[in-house]
Amino acid sequence: MSGKALGHLKTGRPASFRADRGPKKHTVTLIPGDTIGDELADAVERVVAATGVSLGWERCLGGQKALARHGESLPAELMESVRRNKVALKGHFTTPLGPNPEQESPSVRLRKLLDLFASVRPARDLDGMTSRYSGVDLVVVRENTEDLYAGIEHEIVPGVVESLKVVTEAASRRIARYAFEYATKNSRTSVTAVHKANIMKMSDGLFLECCREAAGEFPSIGYRELIADNCIMQLVLDPAKFDVLVMGNMLGDIISDVCAGLIGGPGTMPGINIGPEVTVFEAIHGNAPHLMGRDLANPLTMLIPAVALLRHLGEVEAADRIMAAVSAVLTARGRVTPDLGGNAHTSGMIDAIIAALPDKVDMAANPAGKE
Ligand code: IPM
Ligand code: MG
Repeated sequence: MSGKALGHLKTGRPASFRADRGPKKHTVTLIPGDTIGDELADAVERVVAATGVSLGWERCLGGQKALARHGESLPAELMESVRRNKVALKGHFTTPLGPNPEQESPSVRLRKLLDLFASVRPARDLDGMTSRYSGVDLVVVRENTEDLYAGIEHEIVPGVVESLKVVTEAASRRIARYAFEYATKNSRTSVTAVHKANIMKMSDGLFLECCREAAGEFPSIGYRELIADNCIMQLVLDPAKFDVLVMGNMLGDIISDVCAGLIGGPGTMPGINIGPEVTVFEAIHGNAPHLMGRDLANPLTMLIPAVALLRHLGEVEAADRIMAAVSAVLTARGRVTPDLGGNAHTSGMIDAIIAALPDKVDMAANPAGKE
């Protein structure tokens, strides 16, 4: 046998890892992250196992816990696992406050290292979720690598600092085109470019030019532009009017949280980070240190990204069954965590979701297979 033919055996670790648990159809890197991450990762593992999907998790330490143990927040083992499996589910990493390079947000670093150039955050109101609006079905497409997140800051003289907003034609073209491709593939009808080019004439101006160029290449998708503050007001007045929105990194961070809030909070919206090689599904909740170790965190914050991950893997039926169970539990109200108006523990809410898993689902409920 040639050396090339034996090549796959030399990758070693994953093969032995899988052999312990029996062969699985999918292997996914699971990065619970800090604070409530482990509790939520356990919850997700239980629900996915209950669907019977053949999926093995490679749990990797990342964030503050990894920093304490290995001296780095994104250890080589984590990076290798994500690159090998090409798909990961990630919890929240605490971002240290402070100006030193080692205090850079590990979440942002991960996005840059893996070239996760697009952050896709769909906002659809969930059946049974108490929220301000219904009929919301929009998607925030956020540039994920530059803008104010370039992290280039300096002190000019004491008392005067600068943070650079870096906008490149290459990254703007890529995200603009991605938004239109996403709209086309997902039967969406319009893209709104959100900007502040009236003030940042060069940076957001360049971004807008790239959006217009992409719009010209996709004549069947509607296109409009909205200045960010007006856009946020319109979203709060009537979010059902929006379809796909595309914007830079900083506005995307803010507007995606606004949209999650409109439909019931961070447990409603998955963060999907897309790169040329790897896709990282992410919980968008914050630190929640007060909930740590108390079995009280809302498990939907990691379960909703896990459902998006199942769709990405082609496990559409399992995804739909979980969503049907989530809706049933939300609608019944009793067995949900306190933030959702109930008095259940995380584990109790997961028990309820597993008990409510239907054998089959009516695929007509979500014919487009939307996240
Ligand atoms: C998000 C978060 C991150 C961001 C933080 C944790 C670095 O708010 O994913 O929206 O600012 O992008
Ligand atoms: Mg955010």
